[in-house]
Amino acid sequence: MCGIIGYIGEKEVKPLLIEGLKRLEYRGYDSSGICVKNNSGLSIVKNVGKVEKLEKDARLSSIKGKVGIAHTRWATHGEPSELNAHPHYDCKNELAVVHNGIIENYVPLKKMLEKEGHKFKSQTDSEVIAHLLEKFYRGNLAEALLKVLPLLQGTYGLAVISKKNEEIVIAKKGSPLVLGIGNNKMLFASDQTALINYVPNIAYLNDNEIAILKENSFEIRNSNGKIIKPKIEALKLDAEDIEKNGFEHYMLKEIFEQPKSIKRALSGRLNKDGVKLSIDINLKKINRIVLLGCGTSWHSALIGKYLIEDLTNIPVEVDYASEFRYRTNPLKSSDLVIALSQSGETADTLAAIKKAKESKAKTIGLVNAVGSSIARECQSVIYLQAGPEIGVASTKAFTSQVTTLLLLALYIRKEKGMKLDKKLLKEILTLPKKVFSSLQTENKIKELADKFKDNKNFIFLGKGVNFPIALEGALKLKEISYIHAEGYPSAEMKHGPIALVDENMHCLFICTHDHTYDKVLSNIEEVKARKGKIIVITDKADDKLTSKADEIIYVPHIDPILAPLINIIPLQLFAYHVANMKGLDVDKPRNLAKSVTVE
Ligand code: F6R
Repeated sequence: MCGIIGYIGEKEVKPLLIEGLKRLEYRGYDSSGICVKNNSGLSIVKNVGKVEKLEKDARLSSIKGKVGIAHTRWATHGEPSELNAHPHYDCKNELAVVHNGIIENYVPLKKMLEKEGHKFKSQTDSEVIAHLLEKFYRGNLAEALLKVLPLLQGTYGLAVISKKNEEIVIAKKGSPLVLGIGNNKMLFASDQTALINYVPNIAYLNDNEIAILKENSFEIRNSNGKIIKPKIEALKLDAEDIEKNGFEHYMLKEIFEQPKSIKRALSGRLNKDGVKLSIDINLKKINRIVLLGCGTSWHSALIGKYLIEDLTNIPVEVDYASEFRYRTNPLKSSDLVIALSQSGETADTLAAIKKAKESKAKTIGLVNAVGSSIARECQSVIYLQAGPEIGVASTKAFTSQVTTLLLLALYIRKEKGMKLDKKLLKEILTLPKKVFSSLQTENKIKELADKFKDNKNFIFLGKGVNFPIALEGALKLKEISYIHAEGYPSAEMKHGPIALVDENMHCLFICTHDHTYDKVLSNIEEVKARKGKIIVITDKADDKLTSKADEIIYVPHIDPILAPLINIIPLQLFAYHVANMKGLDVDKPRNLAKSVTVE
């Protein structure tokens, strides 16, 4: 949540900061701002709305300089407004700060500073950092920051520049920060996508570290000011990873990328004879598994429960990370806790896995963003290998999570000495091809999107392993098209939601052929009897179904345990086309941000 970027080097900083903000915009887009330093001091320009608006702001044209910091905001404290946008100045406009995270004790700090005569301009928690720096600054920015940080409770990825120092100083605790190391230039950003094409190498900052960036050098220090040796690595992403490649939106590109991203998740890990994962934890003696995540990642965890219990016979619990972290968790050394996260930075998931680590339980991260906090926190990590996901609504990361959970279930099965089903292994290898066929539903989906785009409500229903698909289909629709949609296990409907059914209610059933097929068919009858409209996703034509459904979408048939990966595709496309036809900003839906680094 919130994206920050900065540059010090030999080139004009403004174009780079604007481009960087555009790449970080998926983290928040309520407002944005930049601060540039030159010989006459600091200049800030801020604007409410998307970065595009900031880019066109006439005030930017007079700003020149080779050192600068920038911020794109997802509001937590204070409405989106120019005053609340970052960067924030101290009283004398000599220091400027950008901050991602939350300063939980900002109220007493603000009161103290106001008593001392500091004048605040915004309602944000972040502005206290600028005034605290002003209080301690005696010409050395890093020294002042090291005095300020112990006073802050909460989380931060922050950067400071001053009128007088030819440097940027940054600090991290609980919010991501990565350094970009180049020739005659140093950058930092909230994530590495903002650094692509600018630097060959990166280094991650750890919690409670600060870094001092100069044009030709950098230094990382711990909270006592002691110099730390950086771990420098190559930046492995390239420009193609963050382009739309001819698609109108990132979300559509990412939906259509799924045959490839699933193939990458399987690549080198599964063949027709077995499964190979590099996990440096002994899983032979695991007796219980807890899966943790938020939002879409929680939905893949729900599917993981079906997959793991079915393939390993080990009991699995699924928890919202935000609930798990505040409950008593009686974990044992024979328990395995798995954190699922696309971004690897979700605050609740990170806190939950830290809590699990306090017990003796083993921890594994199933994470997309390489080098992210959750990836580094877990004892072992399995990367999704989906590539950067930029559309705010998660699509390819979801299917890669499910694929990776499947691999993990097979791996645990093998570790437990249970036989692998060769037929299933072969079927898994057909997934990229079958997902490609499922994408061919797009024309039918466009027709339906056009027909139903003005609906006010939807109910999505599925049973067994397709129940989480109903939840995920409903979430996709509500988050990008703002249509109210509920996901339910199909048999649960008669315990309440059926009261909503009349001739105006559209119920979308996932009804592919597995052992629950006839049961779902009965639930369809129940809706039909109350004049509800029926849309069905199925894998085979069947008179029993065609006679009841108002609309049918056909997807390829696959082993039922793999069906979620096929069945979710038309639902992703449906959400996308409805939102697009309504003229909504598909990639940046209102109120949302891709990386939720606050509670
Ligand atoms: C929905 C969506 C969110 C995320 C959730 C967790 O489309 O993207 O619900 O799934 O915020 O994010 P990660 O997976 O990054 O931990």
